[in-house]
Amino acid sequence: MPNLESWLLFRGMRATSRSASSKACARKLRCGPWPRSRTALLFALQKRIEGLRPFPHHKGEGVDVPSTPAALWCWLRGEERGEIVLRAREIEKILAPAFETSGVIDAFKHGRGLDLTGYEDGTENPKGKKAAEAAIVRDKRAGIGGASFAAVQQWVHDLDKFAAMPRKQQDDTIGRRKTDNKELGGAPPSAHVKRTAQESFSPEAFVLRRSMPWADATRAGLVFVAFGKSLDAFEAQLRRMVGAEDGMADALFRFTRPVTGVYLWCPPVRKGRIDLRAIGL
Ligand code: HEM
Repeated sequence: MPNLESWLLFRGMRATSRSASSKACARKLRCGPWPRSRTALLFALQKRIEGLRPFPHHKGEGVDVPSTPAALWCWLRGEERGEIVLRAREIEKILAPAFETSGVIDAFKHGRGLDLTGYEDGTENPKGKKAAEAAIVRDKRAGIGGASFAAVQQWVHDLDKFAAMPRKQQDDTIGRRKTDNKELGGAPPSAHVKRTAQESFSPEAFVLRRSMPWADATRAGLVFVAFGKSLDAFEAQLRRMVGAEDGMADALFRFTRPVTGVYLWCPPVRKGRIDLRAIGL
């Protein structure tokens, strides 16, 4: 896993603020004016990908999960910060006629793959063939098979609040022991890993998570990313986390909250290039 990542999210330019070159770029993409400045590119292109839908917004007692659509997502990974910054600038320039950057998150690997709370993240990820089964669409149709769906959320931690909890309460929040990552049999039902235990769903809800810590001058947290062959498994986990099934919210919400939430379609790759045949490009 690379040590550094940068997440660029773009929105389409408003029709009114579009320059001549942006209109030309939009013509090239054969898309009409953006109905809303933040709408997804596929909707602007009037194309549909089976299974792609807007990110669900949840609001309840102590829980607010926003839905913040984006037109495009670029995920840059590497070992050298300067290289990532320069690549990001190149991409922004290429896209500038039709898209503007709506957010950049700089993420980094912490220790052996820890969240900033000190807990290991990713332990129960499916591996090898099982990872591909969970994350990649299997379909014979050109441009459809080999794709994936991603759920991306930026979470902001209250690290002082978490640090002030006694260690037992911290372990009970996650459902694992910080010292050795052992799953706690006696963890409360609100513990994060109890809420999201992938085998406990029907059908089983396996996803491939690739979350990373992030920080800026004033805030810090986790960029949560899950890839799935559909969005169903993630959505089932999220519903349970917010308490939509039984009124019990995930204990994570006591110290952290999501500030963005978006679903994206990740096209397959063919001969080293993104394969956009599914949307006629
Ligand atoms: C701030 C946000 C989050 C943090 C800090 C966090 C952290 C963790 C940690 C430490 C684990 C235990 C180790 C592991 O198996 O990876 C875990 C497990 C897991 N998390 Fe999260 N997580 C967050 C958000 C989410 C969200 C939004 C979802 C899905 C909606 C999710 C789904 C899962 C799943 C599926 C597991 C494995 C459960 C199992 O099968 O044992 N997490 N998470």
